[in-house]
Amino acid sequence: MKFGPIHIIRDRTYSSLLHQIEATKPTNETQRLHEALDRARQELQRLGLDVDADDRFGAEIPKQLHLTPRLSGEGHEYAEPPTPAPSPLASFNVLDGWVSQFEINGEKVGGAVGLSTDERIEWLMDSIGGVKRKRLLELGPLEGAHTKMLCDAGAASVVAVEGFRASWLHCLVIKEIFNLERARFIYGDFNHYVADYHGPPFDAVLACGVLYHQLDPPALIAGLSKLTKTAMVWTHVADEAYPPDAVPAEVDGYRGRRMDYGDARNEYRNYCGGVAQEAIWLYHDELIRCFTENGFNHIESRGVTPTPAGPAVLFTATC
Ligand SMILES: C[S@@+](CC[C@H](N)C(=O)[O-])C[C@H]1O[C@@H](n2cnc3c(N)ncnc32)[C@H](O)[C@@H]1O
Repeated sequence: MKFGPIHIIRDRTYSSLLHQIEATKPTNETQRLHEALDRARQELQRLGLDVDADDRFGAEIPKQLHLTPRLSGEGHEYAEPPTPAPSPLASFNVLDGWVSQFEINGEKVGGAVGLSTDERIEWLMDSIGGVKRKRLLELGPLEGAHTKMLCDAGAASVVAVEGFRASWLHCLVIKEIFNLERARFIYGDFNHYVADYHGPPFDAVLACGVLYHQLDPPALIAGLSKLTKTAMVWTHVADEAYPPDAVPAEVDGYRGRRMDYGDARNEYRNYCGGVAQEAIWLYHDELIRCFTENGFNHIESRGVTPTPAGPAVLFTATC
């Protein structure tokens, strides 16, 4: 039964099994199941499958492989691990379930997704003439990988608003390890942050991987137009096939498709979606119309490209 545990993971029962385990008072049986799942994870890694990967970047990696970002070493019974000598890696290892890959002392650590060297962000920064000395707002930083890129590229400041508690904690660890003094991570729903913002304008806003997770993307885009003249965007857009199981929808006069996340937000503890149960994916032309009608008249786009998780577009929009 060498591959038994792997099937448990691959046939989408992993997270429900974990939930059952976590809901149950620890017994010898649950301990045994935890150990079996850990062995399965190691076996998958030995076979070259990355169990921490974010499935946005590969349709073949099933969702249930998102592992929980619990304190590392924590099982169903909490146990403080032996305290190591202080080091960036020791701090990094306090948390588990990383999606993004980082390099610490020459070693690649974390998940499999190369967000800290993301060429989409390089393109976006180039497209607006760089971010040196600019004051930036970032929506949904996940674990701070893009924030680090913005800081490394010379941003004067980055305010990054993250709405998922575990992700926000990951961001704080990254801020500390890489000494991102000019970044500030705020926990909460960025729709509120944008709507309620009354400070000085931002030189640019990064909205990467977030618009298609919102209930009302046109309202967010309208809000952004009040606090910046420059938006850097990567987002999925709707077509006939994506998002799957979606229904036609219209919001604020813009057409798209509505999808329902179901209980995914509770099911995956390092979930990378939105803060509401539903989201509207706008069609590409409707998305661009929304930006231009909000005053972002100049669009520089790399066009729509297919990805395993649906069509996506990368562009900057400036007033
Ligand atoms: C798909 S991930 C994208 C992460 C990163 N920006 C990237 O491009 O790789 C979406 C991120 O935005 C966060 N997020 C989505 N909707 C949000 C909201 N309304 N307020 C705050 N954070 C949100 C999620 O928690 C998650 O970290």
